[in-house]
Amino acid sequence: MTDRRGFLKSAAIAGAPAILPAQTPSDTLRVAFVGVGNRGSFLLQNMLRVAGVRVVAVCDILPDRAAAAAKAVADAGGNARQWTDFRKMLDQQKDIDAVVLATPDFTHKDFDLAILEVGKHLYAEKPLALTVDDCKMVARAAAEAKGVFQAGFQLRHDPRRNGSMKFIHSGGMGKVLMCHGIRHGGDLPRDIPWYFDKKNNGDIVVDQGIHILDLFTWAIGAHPVRALASGGTNLFIDVPPGRTVMDNYNLIFEYPGGERVNFSHHYFDPPGFSGIQERVFCAGGAIDLVQATWIPRDKRGAIKLDVPDEKEDSTYMALKAFAENVRGKKTPLNSAESGVRSTVQAIMATKAIYEKRIVTWDEVAGGA
Ligand SMILES: NC(=O)c1ccc[n+]([C@@H]2O[C@H](COP(=O)([O-])OP(=O)(O)OC[C@H]3O[C@@H](n4cnc5c(N)ncnc54)[C@H](O)[C@@H]3O)[C@@H](O)[C@H]2O)c1
Repeated sequence: MTDRRGFLKSAAIAGAPAILPAQTPSDTLRVAFVGVGNRGSFLLQNMLRVAGVRVVAVCDILPDRAAAAAKAVADAGGNARQWTDFRKMLDQQKDIDAVVLATPDFTHKDFDLAILEVGKHLYAEKPLALTVDDCKMVARAAAEAKGVFQAGFQLRHDPRRNGSMKFIHSGGMGKVLMCHGIRHGGDLPRDIPWYFDKKNNGDIVVDQGIHILDLFTWAIGAHPVRALASGGTNLFIDVPPGRTVMDNYNLIFEYPGGERVNFSHHYFDPPGFSGIQERVFCAGGAIDLVQATWIPRDKRGAIKLDVPDEKEDSTYMALKAFAENVRGKKTPLNSAESGVRSTVQAIMATKAIYEKRIVTWDEVAGGA
């Protein structure tokens, strides 16, 4: 088994410096957006609320999306240049300090590398990449980069989940024993075709379930050692036509300290039937991450945690943290290290599903 730092150490070139914040000429962070579709436009709306940030460029291969994003910036009182080629943008527009990348999953490795290589700070949507080798390449590039790399696991910045995690990590409920999650809802967005082909996104554990696996692995503080899993397509067979991604799966992970995670995810939940659950069971009680409430083992009744900014959106909080990280005040909570670990964990589970067998971390992570 590899310890949690070992994986990245082996990915990083020996002697590479830790991530250092790049110099910005002023306190204003000048940001470019690449990919302003479904997620990118939501990130943009939230970034426009972050103090000390100016969105100076927007890029999408679809010109009407770039134009809509530029209009959103103008409506907020700013001015962003429009691009359809992000490499040209990085080459020609010199006033960009940081990039927010929200293009489809299959582009992440190449685009992350291209953006890090030219020294920009990067907020990169998940997953890091679609193969373990590509994840390692992104991790290596992030470790060597001049800019800060923050992965788009914004739920770590969700006020309730973040507050719950601080409580867990403070030892408030004792040792973590088990995490239990469900994400039962409707199908993937039918108007975005790339989501339905697993070649584009590594299938739904890597593209979607990864958020919850990231939270649970963060709670436990180590990567899993073994994955048992089962999944498939039971309702949306060839819907939409050509679909290759699953519509349901169940996972069990074992961790080095004997902790376990179980996670159930499907897309055929009737509205309002079960929804989302993220629960961490500890020696002294259990906590609901979504609600930030916990129940001690020896008492009936939930105790609400006092959480700052409780109503604030997780994406806004993640982008605000990104701006602060770039200014050198904080190390990203969603570092390349944690992002790679969660992506590899999702790849490991997918392999266990496809091959119908127990899969170990060591065989997937290449003994790193
Ligand atoms: N963190 C989250 O909660 C969350 C939620 C949804 C999506 N995402 C992630 O965000 C990313 C985008 O997903 P989406 O739902 O917005 O998909 P989308 O298809 O709606 O948006 C992707 C955009 O990228 C553009 N694009 C594609 N190639 C490009 C290129 N070479 N240069 C510039 N633009 C390009 C597309 O035209 C499109 O507008 C994915 O990686 C997805 O996993 C994350």
